[in-house]
Amino acid sequence: MLSQAAAGAILTIDLEALAENWRALRACLKQGAEAAAVVKADGYGLGAEQVASALTKAGCRTFFVARLEEGIRLRKALSKGERIFVLDGVLPGTASEFPAHGLIPVLNEPGQIKEWAALTQGQARAALHADTGMNRLGISQAELERLRPRLEKAGLCLVMSHLACSEEADNPKNAEQLGRFLEARKNLSHLPASLSNSSGIFLGSDYHFDLVRPGVALYGVNPTPGQPNPMRQIVELKARIVQVRDVDLPETVGYGATHQVLGKSRIATVAVGYADGWPRSLSNRGFGALAGVRVPLVGRVSMDLMTFDVTKTPGDAARPGGFITLLGDGASVDEVADLAGTIGYEILTNLGPRYFRKYVGG
Ligand SMILES: Cc1ncc(COP(=O)(O)O)c(C=O)c1O
Repeated sequence: MLSQAAAGAILTIDLEALAENWRALRACLKQGAEAAAVVKADGYGLGAEQVASALTKAGCRTFFVARLEEGIRLRKALSKGERIFVLDGVLPGTASEFPAHGLIPVLNEPGQIKEWAALTQGQARAALHADTGMNRLGISQAELERLRPRLEKAGLCLVMSHLACSEEADNPKNAEQLGRFLEARKNLSHLPASLSNSSGIFLGSDYHFDLVRPGVALYGVNPTPGQPNPMRQIVELKARIVQVRDVDLPETVGYGATHQVLGKSRIATVAVGYADGWPRSLSNRGFGALAGVRVPLVGRVSMDLMTFDVTKTPGDAARPGGFITLLGDGASVDEVADLAGTIGYEILTNLGPRYFRKYVGG
């Protein structure tokens, strides 16, 4: 067990802020619509069991994971009453695992429907994924017509689809997919329906149907890019300072000597690197916070370490054993992702196993 004193970084996850985000999303929904929670990829890197347990306390009853294994693990943390959908659905040879573990597969393609219907004969629940133009997973409209007789034996309890461009409110693809979803539902109108992820919720009540599937917004990433973030950040990441050194011209810092000091400087080296999921693309671009001062990441991010120019921080704020904040204290997941040339999803899901994890507010 990793001790806090020996950890290179401390990742704090605020489960009360998470629950507040879930309640805030639920409050946006049209009357009668349910808010589920997407907790795949280990709860977007933040711990699926902890996240789902906290959301259950807040009232969430439906969860989505990607992989069968994720579902099996999560099932153990939840009570029988909570539904767990598995987005990958029935990979060949796995159908019997779903009823055995109390999981609901999302049927994505004709072979999955065939295997599921043959095994369960309508005696176990499944969701149907209709493709509405993303062309990633899901049954096309033409296939849907052809498969209709078989669907009766699939035990369907939900029809769903997924939006490709929901974070761009003006993108015409949203309305196009909505239209195709309404078409797909025509002969399935007896089934509850689900279309929206986090950003889809903000496209308005036409997109809410019976169930929404937010993921990233629960974890504090902005579902309305370009507008103020309506969600609370739920993570704080503090990197341990291992060494502080004074340097002066003509020294350089780090691999490749990519940072040339401009004069008398103090450099703090912290115990986080790209092996911890901190993007190497933040080399000479990132920043941290120390004693209320933004400190630039100078030089390259290496495997286990990176370096900050702490010249402007007061007194002994930078000292071995102290911390530089990488997320929190004004550093949002979205800003870090932008600087790294990626998205908040990737920053969160890459948060490393070497961090000491603390859950608060649950
Ligand atoms: C099918 C499906 N539904 C919902 C979500 C949640 O999306 P978001 O994290 O953007 O809310 C995802 C995530 O990728 C998904 O694949």
